[in-house]
Amino acid sequence: MPDSFMENPMPAPLRLGLAGLGTVGIGVVKIVQKHADLIALRAGRPVVITAVSARDRGRNRDADLSGYAWENDPVALARRDDVDVFVEVMGGHEGPAKAATEAAIAAGKDVVTANKALLAHHGQALALAAEAAGRVIRFEAAVAGGIPVIKALTEGLAGNRMRRVMGVMNGTCNYILTRMQNAGLPYETVFEEARQLGYLEADPNLDVGGIDAGHKLSLLAAIAFGTKVSFDHVELEGIGNVSIEDIRMADDMGYHIKLLGVAQMTGRGLEQRMTPCLVPADSPLGQLQGGTNMVVLEGDSVGQIVLRGPGAGEGPTASAVMGDVIDIARGLRLSTFGQPAATLVDPVPAKAATPAPYYLRMTLLDKPGALAKVATCLGEAGISIDQMRQINQAGEADDKAIVLIVTHKAAPADIAYALSRFAETGVVMGAPVAIRIEEV
Ligand code: HSE
Repeated sequence: MPDSFMENPMPAPLRLGLAGLGTVGIGVVKIVQKHADLIALRAGRPVVITAVSARDRGRNRDADLSGYAWENDPVALARRDDVDVFVEVMGGHEGPAKAATEAAIAAGKDVVTANKALLAHHGQALALAAEAAGRVIRFEAAVAGGIPVIKALTEGLAGNRMRRVMGVMNGTCNYILTRMQNAGLPYETVFEEARQLGYLEADPNLDVGGIDAGHKLSLLAAIAFGTKVSFDHVELEGIGNVSIEDIRMADDMGYHIKLLGVAQMTGRGLEQRMTPCLVPADSPLGQLQGGTNMVVLEGDSVGQIVLRGPGAGEGPTASAVMGDVIDIARGLRLSTFGQPAATLVDPVPAKAATPAPYYLRMTLLDKPGALAKVATCLGEAGISIDQMRQINQAGEADDKAIVLIVTHKAAPADIAYALSRFAETGVVMGAPVAIRIEEV
């Protein structure tokens, strides 16, 4: 053994207490065991798990946990003397996850978490508590799974004033939308398929209602714009009303439908939206298939950066957890949201989204003057038509036509006003559809 090694023995290990032994927790165990040497070299010290906790001790798990102490209660785990970093991969924004995270900070532990809901609801209070105690909270795994987007924003892009953050950050929704498109299947059928495949959260509305993705967007917005996490002001709309007709017709017009998150600071305040949008089919976001995530970051100096990768799953999420753990082992101590929590400001929420082009679909009585009446409603709302297409579907009654319109940029309120007047025309049948087209 070389003398230099004897003179510089490896420093003390960083000791993890792992709360949660589901998909992500087991992924963390596997990486710690499989890459112990690699991690010790990179971190400059060994990283070990000393204790674990989970709801059900007896469950058969695909990992050797025999070397770890067991705690039934994650709060007790968080307070253990042989734990330096509390790794929370249980989930849930109240109850044990919150209690244990608070206990860990109070006991002087650093925290690594994959829990987007916890931080979306309590991020500011937790960050203040951690920073007052000289502790760090890291949460790379909470946003876009394996994509190191928190690191990109807080470190690589720290010299930029961020302009806009966008992304497809729920793989289940992107799976459902792309499968509907590729197989021509309705929402209900593909939703059921996703359930069978185990893609849906225990509460599916977290996925398809846009809530999970909204949590993630609110965390990115806090870092990007130096604002307190403000999930309550995210405009949320899920994918449950996206029809196969609109997916097909948007495709015909050169667009794909995505559950897209957009956060931007405007003269009218902070805009945060997680809603179905049309994006150009040939754009990176438009091309995104299946359960993959994509985050687009725009800064004043760097321009636009596109990050793409797996947004969920054992390996990718555990990879993100371990990136944070290794940073802590290396001695890197960053503020939770990239600047001290006490300096984050209350955002002024923008009352309405920035004007954008809209896709409109409606069924018209196919008779003289019908289109003119619709055009008049749009014109009187100050909305200009960019493209229009009429589709007379085979098998449909002769007196009906589907009309697709793409508008020039319009304010959401003007679109809503025009749509509200369609009923008076006597030629628009049923409810028209309006979907924002995001310029990406
Ligand atoms: N259910 C999420 C998704 C992963 O489908 O992307 C966890 O946030």
